[in-house]
Amino acid sequence: MRLFIYLLPMRNLAAIILAAGKGTRMKSAMPKVLHECAGLPMLSYPVKALKDAGVKKIIVVVGHSKDDVIERFRSEKITFVEQKEQLGTGHAVMCAMKALRGFKGGVLILSGDVPLITVETLKALKNLHCKGSKILSLITAVPVNPAGYGRIVRDENNAVIGVVEDKDASSGQKKIREINTGIYLISSGFLFANIKKIGSANAQKEYYLPDLVRLAVKGGSNVKALTLLDPEEAMGINNRVELAKASAIMRLRIVNELMLSGVTFIHPETAYVENFVKIGPDAIIHPSVHLGGQTVIAQGCVIEQGAVIRNSHIGKNSVIKSSSVIDASVIGEGAAVGPFARIRPGTVLENHAHIGNFVEIKKSVIGKGTKANHLSYIGDAVVGANVNIGAGAITCNYDGFKKHVTIIEDDSFIGSDSQLVAPVRIGKGAYVGSGTTVTKDVPPGALVITRADEKIIKGWVKKRRKK
Ligand code: UD1
Ligand code: CA
Repeated sequence: MRLFIYLLPMRNLAAIILAAGKGTRMKSAMPKVLHECAGLPMLSYPVKALKDAGVKKIIVVVGHSKDDVIERFRSEKITFVEQKEQLGTGHAVMCAMKALRGFKGGVLILSGDVPLITVETLKALKNLHCKGSKILSLITAVPVNPAGYGRIVRDENNAVIGVVEDKDASSGQKKIREINTGIYLISSGFLFANIKKIGSANAQKEYYLPDLVRLAVKGGSNVKALTLLDPEEAMGINNRVELAKASAIMRLRIVNELMLSGVTFIHPETAYVENFVKIGPDAIIHPSVHLGGQTVIAQGCVIEQGAVIRNSHIGKNSVIKSSSVIDASVIGEGAAVGPFARIRPGTVLENHAHIGNFVEIKKSVIGKGTKANHLSYIGDAVVGANVNIGAGAITCNYDGFKKHVTIIEDDSFIGSDSQLVAPVRIGKGAYVGSGTTVTKDVPPGALVITRADEKIIKGWVKKRRKK
């Protein structure tokens, strides 16, 4: 019977994430777990890994700036519990026990500041745990520099018998290179029975969660350790140097995955691609490109150096040239943008539209095949297909009080250096002469021109020089 229970797969998993600490070394007004790693708050990563590992109940222990943390994760299915005073990791877990009442199964415990942890590792811990006594298992690592971490103490048979914190370690123990990553899987029964037994008689006068290891061993249980081959994965972020390091690793993970799915990165080290960005095969991403938010880059696009694209959709085979900025917009297929173009929120460029250098577009629709290749401002406009917008053309959409709409119908021609004072409509196929200020609607097929007659005064220069 006993054997039978051991072999049962562990279906029931809950998790406690410790995130009540201040993160003093971040030197920040913002709680540590809200600092972003590759575009997401640090805490999102363990939450995501736990969900992917099949954990249904996630409890997050909050304390410092708890309201900010709760607010940021409002939409997630998380139970928050408060630890009013930060008396140590063991105490943080004590605070979470109420929320676990009635739960039977395995409890994963980890810190909110380990963004690089992967679902594969959590699953490996689960497997190892199921093979052992199913009381307590933990993840260890052997980093180059173990200073600051709790060290794993093993007996002469190499069995784990305890964890000693750096501040409590003897000089001999400080030489141990195997460290506690702070990630545990503990049976709920053992946790309920033992968490209150942890004391605070140590160098930091704190309730140390790893003391459970000694209690488990004392109770005759075999504690299993999963030793990571890659210590980076369990890296705890304590300051901004470590945050930058973890972000770089995270970004490289994202980019590597994209490369394996068929995207070319000319210089992966300098690509800044956030989580959730989707890129189709055969897209080419040049150096120093920033792709953020819910951006989608379709197949075959070329994104040139220095482009910044956020929350936008770029259609197939479009080219976004150097140093262009695109925000919350939709770009059609086969379109060209930039270099040095700025596409502001709410813009839709239809297929094969061409937007050139120093053109700013805001909340406008630009029709199929339309071109605005140089130095323009187009705001709150609806521009039809095959329109040519000359250099320096401007929609004057703001009268100092309100924004107004400009409508430019298909096949029209907007001459260089013209101003369209909104609200105004340029009819289909109409021509706006260069330098014109349009204030009235222009009927289809008409020419509008507001230019003073040109005067040529022969010999004027010579006369002036004589003076
Ligand atoms: C802890 C472990 C150490 C391990 C290391 C791995 C203990 C006593 N030591 O040390 O063995 O090597 O992690 O990174 O557990 N927290 C609370 N409430 C508290 C105290 C901490 O929620 O009262 C949270 C912190 O916000 C943090 C996590 O627990 O997310 C770890 O706390 P921290 O103080 O960083 O522990 P370490 O000293 O790093
Ligand atoms: Ca830490």
